[in-house]
Amino acid sequence: MERDDYLAAIKTRMPEKRYIHTIGVMETAIFLAEKYNENAKSAETAAILHDIAKYADEDWMRQIVIQNGLDHRLIGWGSEILHGPVGAWIAENEFNIINEDILNAIRFHTTGRAGMTKLEKIIYIADMIEPNRKFPGVEELRILANKDIDEALKACICHSIAFLVHTKQQIYPVSIECYNDVIS
Ligand SMILES: [Fe+2]
Ligand SMILES: [Fe+2]
Repeated sequence: MERDDYLAAIKTRMPEKRYIHTIGVMETAIFLAEKYNENAKSAETAAILHDIAKYADEDWMRQIVIQNGLDHRLIGWGSEILHGPVGAWIAENEFNIINEDILNAIRFHTTGRAGMTKLEKIIYIADMIEPNRKFPGVEELRILANKDIDEALKACICHSIAFLVHTKQQIYPVSIECYNDVIS
């Protein structure tokens, strides 16, 4: 499938605001891929599909996790955590994506993980800094992303963890593993 086919396919599955966010992630991911010598086409595909499951029914997503033997730690978590792994499952089973790096970039775009590949880092960062994102500190993250991908990743992960702590939200264990990995 080409870019326009993927875009047409996702457009029907999300509100306009999320579609605009996805376009922003796509453009940012392509920019970062070209800057850091990653495959721009892989970045484009992963970015377009990264939020494909964002509006899927939570009970359906739990069924997908159980029936397909996805990480058992996902059970008990809501759509914010489920939509990455289930999105990767949809990309593989509905869009026939076989590139494991693209699937992992979708799978871990919310939580990160220890030992992220360059493509995974690009999608994680692009999701956070795309032009429609507006939160205190985002401009500093954009500047870092222009200079050093690993420093940018570290700052993005720290920002996410700090936000979860400040808002008294639970932190998915894989995100803690990611945090420990990037700050070591
Ligand atoms: Fe997402
Ligand atoms: Fe996103």
